[in-house]
Amino acid sequence: MQIEDKIPDPTEYCALRVASGLSAMSLDAATLGLPKSLYAVTLRQDGKLIGMGRVVGDGLHVQVVDITVAPEFQGKGLSRQIMERIMAFIDEKIPKCAVVSLFADVDWLYQKFGFVKPQKSQGMFYKRV
Ligand SMILES: CC(C)(COP(=O)(O)OP(=O)(O)OC[C@H]1O[C@@H](n2cnc3c(N)ncnc32)[C@H](O)[C@@H]1OP(=O)(O)O)[C@@H](O)C(=O)NCCC(=O)NCCS
Repeated sequence: MQIEDKIPDPTEYCALRVASGLSAMSLDAATLGLPKSLYAVTLRQDGKLIGMGRVVGDGLHVQVVDITVAPEFQGKGLSRQIMERIMAFIDEKIPKCAVVSLFADVDWLYQKFGFVKPQKSQGMFYKRV
Protein backbone atom coordinates (compact mmCIF):
# COMPACT_ATOMS: atom_id res chain seq x y z
CA MET A 1 0.00 0.00 0.00
CA GLN A 2 1.32 3.40 -1.00
CA ILE A 3 0.17 6.66 0.62
CA GLU A 4 1.23 9.90 -1.06
CA ASP A 5 0.54 13.63 -0.89
CA LYS A 6 -0.75 13.75 -4.46
CA ILE A 7 -3.79 14.80 -6.45
CA PRO A 8 -5.43 11.82 -8.17
CA ASP A 9 -5.90 11.63 -11.91
CA PRO A 10 -9.38 13.01 -12.82
CA THR A 11 -10.52 9.76 -14.42
CA GLU A 12 -9.65 7.58 -11.44
CA TYR A 13 -11.09 10.21 -9.07
CA CYS A 14 -14.45 10.14 -10.87
CA ALA A 15 -14.47 6.34 -10.87
CA LEU A 16 -13.60 6.04 -7.17
CA ARG A 17 -16.34 8.48 -6.12
CA VAL A 18 -19.01 6.50 -7.98
CA ALA A 19 -17.66 3.11 -6.87
CA SER A 20 -17.85 4.13 -3.21
CA GLY A 21 -21.34 5.58 -3.47
CA LEU A 22 -20.60 9.31 -3.63
CA SER A 23 -22.29 11.51 -6.24
CA ALA A 24 -20.89 11.49 -9.77
CA MET A 25 -18.61 14.32 -10.91
CA SER A 26 -18.01 15.06 -14.58
CA LEU A 27 -14.54 14.52 -16.01
CA ASP A 28 -14.42 18.16 -17.13
CA ALA A 29 -15.25 19.45 -13.65
CA ALA A 30 -12.71 17.11 -12.04
CA THR A 31 -10.00 18.16 -14.52
CA LEU A 32 -10.61 21.82 -13.65
CA GLY A 33 -11.15 21.36 -9.94
CA LEU A 34 -8.58 18.87 -8.71
CA PRO A 35 -5.47 21.03 -9.41
CA LYS A 36 -7.01 23.75 -7.22
CA SER A 37 -6.85 21.49 -4.15
CA LEU A 38 -4.96 22.94 -1.21
CA TYR A 39 -3.92 19.43 -0.32
CA ALA A 40 -4.69 15.90 -1.47
CA VAL A 41 -3.72 12.44 -0.30
CA THR A 42 -4.01 9.22 -2.30
CA LEU A 43 -3.84 5.59 -1.23
CA ARG A 44 -2.82 3.07 -3.88
CA GLN A 45 -2.38 -0.67 -4.09
CA ASP A 46 -0.40 -1.98 -7.08
CA GLY A 47 -0.82 1.46 -8.64
CA LYS A 48 -4.64 1.44 -8.37
CA LEU A 49 -6.34 4.28 -6.51
CA ILE A 50 -8.12 2.73 -3.51
CA GLY A 51 -8.61 5.75 -1.25
CA MET A 52 -8.23 9.49 -1.09
CA GLY A 53 -9.06 12.74 0.66
CA ARG A 54 -8.68 16.44 -0.13
CA VAL A 55 -8.65 19.85 1.48
CA VAL A 56 -10.06 22.75 -0.56
CA GLY A 57 -10.38 26.46 0.12
CA ASP A 58 -8.29 29.60 0.41
CA GLY A 59 -6.68 29.38 3.83
CA LEU A 60 -9.42 31.45 5.47
CA HIS A 61 -12.21 28.98 4.89
CA VAL A 62 -11.15 25.42 4.19
CA GLN A 63 -13.16 22.26 3.77
CA VAL A 64 -12.27 18.59 4.04
CA VAL A 65 -13.81 16.76 1.06
CA ASP A 66 -13.72 13.53 -0.94
CA ILE A 67 -12.80 11.22 1.95
CA THR A 68 -13.25 7.91 0.19
CA VAL A 69 -12.10 4.30 0.43
CA ALA A 70 -12.95 1.79 -2.32
CA PRO A 71 -15.67 -0.66 -1.15
CA GLU A 72 -13.40 -3.73 -1.20
CA PHE A 73 -10.93 -1.95 1.11
CA GLN A 74 -13.42 -0.49 3.58
CA GLY A 75 -13.49 -1.60 7.21
CA LYS A 76 -9.71 -1.94 7.43
CA GLY A 77 -8.96 1.39 9.10
CA LEU A 78 -7.64 3.06 5.95
CA SER A 79 -9.71 6.20 6.42
CA ARG A 80 -7.73 6.89 9.61
CA GLN A 81 -4.50 7.04 7.59
CA ILE A 82 -6.12 9.48 5.18
CA MET A 83 -7.51 11.66 7.97
CA GLU A 84 -4.22 11.67 9.89
CA ARG A 85 -2.41 13.10 6.84
CA ILE A 86 -5.15 15.66 6.32
CA MET A 87 -5.09 16.78 9.95
CA ALA A 88 -1.29 17.11 9.86
CA PHE A 89 -1.62 19.40 6.82
CA ILE A 90 -4.31 21.50 8.52
CA ASP A 91 -2.40 21.78 11.81
CA GLU A 92 0.85 22.76 10.07
CA LYS A 93 -0.31 24.91 7.16
CA ILE A 94 -3.72 26.44 7.87
CA PRO A 95 -3.95 29.55 10.08
CA LYS A 96 -5.61 28.99 13.47
CA CYS A 97 -8.25 31.62 12.68
CA ALA A 98 -9.47 29.75 9.58
CA VAL A 99 -12.88 28.09 9.52
CA VAL A 100 -12.28 24.38 8.91
CA SER A 101 -15.43 22.48 8.03
CA LEU A 102 -16.82 19.38 6.36
CA PHE A 103 -20.10 17.72 5.56
CA ALA A 104 -20.12 14.39 7.36
CA ASP A 105 -22.11 11.48 5.97
CA VAL A 106 -20.58 9.45 8.82
CA ASP A 107 -19.89 11.58 11.90
CA TRP A 108 -18.00 8.76 13.69
CA LEU A 109 -15.16 9.20 11.24
CA TYR A 110 -14.50 12.84 12.08
CA GLN A 111 -15.36 13.28 15.75
CA LYS A 112 -12.14 11.56 16.84
CA PHE A 113 -10.16 14.16 14.88
CA GLY A 114 -11.76 17.06 16.73
CA PHE A 115 -14.70 17.92 14.48
CA VAL A 116 -17.90 18.84 16.31
CA LYS A 117 -21.45 19.51 15.20
CA PRO A 118 -22.06 23.29 15.16
CA GLN A 119 -24.29 24.68 17.92
CA LYS A 120 -25.84 27.56 16.01
CA SER A 121 -25.22 27.17 12.30
CA GLN A 122 -26.49 24.48 10.01
CA GLY A 123 -24.88 23.35 6.76
CA MET A 124 -26.97 23.89 3.64
CA PHE A 125 -26.70 22.77 0.04
CA TYR A 126 -27.74 24.84 -2.97
CA LYS A 127 -30.15 22.59 -4.83
CA ARG A 128 -29.50 22.97 -8.55
CA VAL A 129 -32.43 22.57 -10.93
C1 LIG B 1 -16.59 6.36 5.24
C2 LIG B 1 -15.31 5.66 4.77
C3 LIG B 1 -14.35 6.72 4.21
C4 LIG B 1 -14.68 4.97 5.99
O1 LIG B 1 -13.45 4.39 5.54
P1 LIG B 1 -12.93 2.99 6.10
O2 LIG B 1 -11.48 2.92 5.82
O3 LIG B 1 -13.79 1.92 5.57
O4 LIG B 1 -13.17 3.18 7.66
P2 LIG B 1 -13.23 2.00 8.72
O5 LIG B 1 -14.51 1.25 8.55
O6 LIG B 1 -12.00 1.19 8.62
O7 LIG B 1 -13.35 2.77 10.06
C5 LIG B 1 -12.52 3.85 10.45
C6 LIG B 1 -12.68 4.03 11.92
O8 LIG B 1 -14.07 4.23 12.27
C7 LIG B 1 -14.51 3.18 13.14
N1 LIG B 1 -15.88 2.82 12.75
C8 LIG B 1 -16.25 2.12 11.67
N2 LIG B 1 -17.59 2.02 11.63
C9 LIG B 1 -18.06 2.71 12.70
C10 LIG B 1 -19.37 2.98 13.21
N3 LIG B 1 -20.48 2.54 12.59
N4 LIG B 1 -19.48 3.69 14.35
C11 LIG B 1 -18.39 4.15 14.98
N5 LIG B 1 -17.10 3.93 14.54
C12 LIG B 1 -16.96 3.21 13.41
C13 LIG B 1 -13.54 2.06 12.95
O9 LIG B 1 -13.48 1.26 14.09
C14 LIG B 1 -12.25 2.81 12.70
O10 LIG B 1 -11.77 3.31 13.96
P3 LIG B 1 -10.21 3.60 14.22
O11 LIG B 1 -9.67 4.39 13.06
O12 LIG B 1 -10.22 4.40 15.48
O13 LIG B 1 -9.59 2.26 14.32
C15 LIG B 1 -15.61 4.59 3.71
O14 LIG B 1 -16.53 3.67 4.23
C16 LIG B 1 -16.16 5.18 2.42
O15 LIG B 1 -15.40 5.55 1.53
N6 LIG B 1 -17.50 5.25 2.31
C17 LIG B 1 -18.13 5.77 1.09
C18 LIG B 1 -17.83 7.26 0.89
C19 LIG B 1 -18.21 8.09 2.09
O16 LIG B 1 -19.28 7.96 2.66
N7 LIG B 1 -17.28 9.00 2.46
C20 LIG B 1 -17.47 9.89 3.58
C21 LIG B 1 -18.12 11.12 3.10
S1 LIG B 1 -18.38 12.23 4.47
